[in-house]
Amino acid sequence: MKIFIDTANLDEIKQAAEMGILDGVTTNPSLVSKEGHKDFRSMLEKIVAIVDGDISAEVVSTTCNEMVNEGRELAKIHENIVVKVPLIAEGLKAVKIFSAEGIRTNVTLCFSASQAILAAKAGAYIISPFVGRLDDISQNGMELISQIVQIYDNYDYQTQILVASVRHPIHFVEGAMMGADISTMPFKVIEQLVKHPLTDIGLNKFLDDWKKLNG
Ligand code: G3P
Repeated sequence: MKIFIDTANLDEIKQAAEMGILDGVTTNPSLVSKEGHKDFRSMLEKIVAIVDGDISAEVVSTTCNEMVNEGRELAKIHENIVVKVPLIAEGLKAVKIFSAEGIRTNVTLCFSASQAILAAKAGAYIISPFVGRLDDISQNGMELISQIVQIYDNYDYQTQILVASVRHPIHFVEGAMMGADISTMPFKVIEQLVKHPLTDIGLNKFLDDWKKLNG
């Protein structure tokens, strides 16, 4: 299971990278806007210098031609850039073209198994089903991951399944049990993956007992 951080905050990316468990980064226009990165290219150059793994950079146009032009420029920035494309009809056309050119894509805003099948057929490198946003509207987000895992396995689709819109460690663990390839999550959730109260209590006890022995 690969772990990606879902942020455009460079400090958080550095901290997660230092933990030694980070395999990549996903960004989206909202996350970039939140951090105030007016120079998108410069932000991506900084991220690729911090993390040696897939870095998703999203296009912000909605026609195939525009997305292809935008994505080609993004892909030129660094070999680790994966072009993030929205799951709309124009996006699928663009994914097909990128795939033929050897440009890797992360197809985003996936909310159904039918969308995931189309993305795989178009040649997506990664599919990003948004589990948290489905949970938000009382649909089971992880049920969608289970469906996509089974369907991709049935047809041997090579597209990697990335659990996106992860809100808590249970999304991460369930995704791993289902055989999803990647989870992307905010830094806060990465921190939650590490923590267990019994670890902290146990460590404090070990250190207290050691002090007693050694005065
Ligand atoms: O980057 C895509 C996705 O992970 C966004 O998550 O929390 O805004 O639904 P969220």
